[in-house]
Amino acid sequence: MTQKTQTKLGPIVAISLVILAVVAFFGAREMFNPTAKTSGTIPIGGAFTLTDHNAKTVTDKDFLGSYMMVYFGYTYCPDVCPTSLGLMGHALDILAKEDPKQAARIQPIFVSVDPERDTVAVLKEYAPNFHPRLLGLTGTVDQVKEAANAYRVYFAKVVEKDAKPGEYLMDHSSITYVIGPDGKFVTHFGHGTAADVMAKKLAELP
Ligand code: NI
Repeated sequence: MTQKTQTKLGPIVAISLVILAVVAFFGAREMFNPTAKTSGTIPIGGAFTLTDHNAKTVTDKDFLGSYMMVYFGYTYCPDVCPTSLGLMGHALDILAKEDPKQAARIQPIFVSVDPERDTVAVLKEYAPNFHPRLLGLTGTVDQVKEAANAYRVYFAKVVEKDAKPGEYLMDHSSITYVIGPDGKFVTHFGHGTAADVMAKKLAELP
């Protein structure tokens, strides 16, 4: 590196460090504050109308009074969804051992972002593998889009080069949301959050 590029890079490095520190500070604050709301003013969660894995039409209003633990994904997902749903189920099992009443207040929910393949029957077979109370939700493409938009979930169909006809993957964000009994966002867990970490935070919910 020459002297000249060093002097140019100095301020950029300094600014980057300041940004990193700010991000780390607010990130940590949210992580350790169970009552922290979403950053900024964009609400997470809200209205949806979907069909559950018992073929019953459900809306967000049906879950008022319970906490919802919500994950968006799809049953054909090779690893990300099974990992996340496994952690969710494990977290609820840990909580149920320590505080069964608190665990019963939380409804685990899996929303499919692949309604073309994730029919009611497919979800009914898939969801209980991760937790006996995990409720699979699907719907029309538009209904799923509406739900995903409400939760700021990104998803997109990906057809790989060597895919057979009709074969595809879904790219999707991997975040577990916790919504309060009032329907408002409480917190979220990033991809790969350990089950005991989630269980501890769920135990603290008022
Ligand atoms: Ni997935």
